[in-house]
Amino acid sequence: MYAIPYLDVPALQQVSGRVRLPGSKSISNRALLMAALCPQPTTIHGLLHSDDTQVMLAALAQLGCGLDVDGDRVRIHGGGLGARRAMQADLFLGNAGTAMRPLVAVLAILGGQYTLDGVPRMRERPIADLVDALLDFGCQVSWLGEPGFPPLRIATPRRGSQRRVAVRGSVSSQFVTALLIALPLAARDAAAGDIVVEISGELISRPYVDITLGLLARFGISVQNDQYRRLTIPAGSRYASPGELQVEPDASTASYFIAAATLSRPGKASPGLTIDGLDENAVQGDIRFVDAARQMGADIRSHAGSLHVQPARLPLQALDLDCNHIPDAAMTLAMMALFANGRSTLRNIASWRVKETDRLAAMAIELRKLGAAVEEGSDFLVITPPAADSWRAACLGTWDDHRMAMCGALAAFNPARRPVRIEDPACVAKTFPDFFETLFMLAEPAQDVPVICIDGPSASGKGTLASALAQVLGFHYLDSGALYRLAGVAARRRQIPISVDHAAAIAQLCQSLQPRFVGERVLLDGEDLGAAIRSEQAGMDASTLSAWPLVRTALLQTQRSAAQLPGLVTDGRDMGTVVFPRARLKVFLTASVAERARRRQGQLRARGIDAKIDQLRADLEARDARDRLRAASPLKPAGDALLLDNSDLSIAESKARVLDWWQQKQCLEPA
Ligand code: C5P
Repeated sequence: MYAIPYLDVPALQQVSGRVRLPGSKSISNRALLMAALCPQPTTIHGLLHSDDTQVMLAALAQLGCGLDVDGDRVRIHGGGLGARRAMQADLFLGNAGTAMRPLVAVLAILGGQYTLDGVPRMRERPIADLVDALLDFGCQVSWLGEPGFPPLRIATPRRGSQRRVAVRGSVSSQFVTALLIALPLAARDAAAGDIVVEISGELISRPYVDITLGLLARFGISVQNDQYRRLTIPAGSRYASPGELQVEPDASTASYFIAAATLSRPGKASPGLTIDGLDENAVQGDIRFVDAARQMGADIRSHAGSLHVQPARLPLQALDLDCNHIPDAAMTLAMMALFANGRSTLRNIASWRVKETDRLAAMAIELRKLGAAVEEGSDFLVITPPAADSWRAACLGTWDDHRMAMCGALAAFNPARRPVRIEDPACVAKTFPDFFETLFMLAEPAQDVPVICIDGPSASGKGTLASALAQVLGFHYLDSGALYRLAGVAARRRQIPISVDHAAAIAQLCQSLQPRFVGERVLLDGEDLGAAIRSEQAGMDASTLSAWPLVRTALLQTQRSAAQLPGLVTDGRDMGTVVFPRARLKVFLTASVAERARRRQGQLRARGIDAKIDQLRADLEARDARDRLRAASPLKPAGDALLLDNSDLSIAESKARVLDWWQQKQCLEPA
């Protein structure tokens, strides 16, 4: 997960390959709760691990349910929410609507002393319709803050003879789902009569109710569905575990990958993208996104247990669609509309306004930043795409909404090859913490992977600056000096003398080295050589062997292969001149020799080594001279490097300066 302030996604050309996506959020959270309501144990496979399921798991544990989590498999002990449950609990449910709504209903029917609350956005998401229905049924629920919204308090219900609840279908289908999961608990008595949920008005997002009905059937509850107007839970219904349950990969998540494969522009024939574990027969309503995408021209083939997507002919066909049945995946259509041949209209999406954020407003604002013209209606969006060359390099706000972030990434397929900055990329954790990692694994950039080179003399602070930049940008980091140092250490270990006569043997050794850099550790054949390569001796050896062209050539490929999405920050002597001559940003970092000697002395002292400043200064000057005067890749600024003398700058100041340059190079418009 990229826990950084923003992520710069370079322009992408295509995605291809094979991927299995994490489990459906809707199925995962429903299945967890239903399993907790069974007297018998259940093992759920393919469970999604995300903020929302974490919230549900934590709440169930707090309520006394026994859970064994092992990767994406979780075993829920039986009877967790039975008579032995915690009768008192204060539950914090983050921004997880799929936890808040059904837990309110279940706990209100079961009874006890509970409070339920969430993040500030959760306190803005309405829940009055559900609570009113529960109150009518004899439950005791009271508002702790603003009426109609969490936080709320639940007490033990006054059991009445009520057998009927009415709820509006037009606000959130999650209210209907919550009632359907909870009311079987009041229908156990075969003599007390059926319980009927009456839905007034049109039921929105029906497919989500279908997921609930399908899962209830797996858990032994067969609800009679009279055209989504009357849903009848037969008297005598009891939860019974199916034993094992497989969660389908999330169809809404799949929409981003289907869109990415559709928007791909491969140079030659593309193998396309295969999404495993999901096909057109999935129970999730958002699988119908496939039909909408096809209307726009997507080439999607459904096989048993997989979907295969080939790049479409672009531009896509503009679309005019009632999206009520695919509220979440419709956001992906809004992104695809940017690649269409005219105006697209997405209708009947008022429910967007009460999701993680007001998605109608948020989407309109962000699409405009990319260059689109957008009309925002009360329950529709009309999107006119930007002309191919008028796409802008935008900083996209994500509104603490995972779907805004995942949608935003699709802008990276723009034909103008503009990068896109995604703010707060970690918000994808709500449903897919590794979304960006997965995208980058499948994607090819439209141009060279972005590389930032920090070259400069010894002890100029390049390593510190480069690794700090890599961290804040979420880029990979390559300390090229470490490779030369490692070459020396590895050579000595194999008794190869560090002498030019053995340059060929050392070069050969360099090609076989497969080091792994993990923080300060440098792992070679399972051994950590981090400390060994940072010794003064290793520095001297590196300085010697790095002057030999054979060795430099041998390390070229290793260095270049470090350039991976989303980008690379690297430091050394010739990164900008030789290794990455087309790097997006080159910085030549210097500091006065006096200052560098002082810093080196500080570093050595921190390691308990005492060194005289004059000696250090002489060493540095000698090393600089050797690096500058050698024939192979001498130390010098690249013609297009920006010079930065950091003698009087703190690391934070240097970092800010370089980030500023980076932003300018990206032509990013201010947020
Ligand atoms: O940067 P560091 O001090 O770790 O590098 C060790 C030595 O490796 C340097 O003195 C320099 O001679 C050599 N080097 C190089 N080219 C690089 C990085 C380091 O020649 N790109």
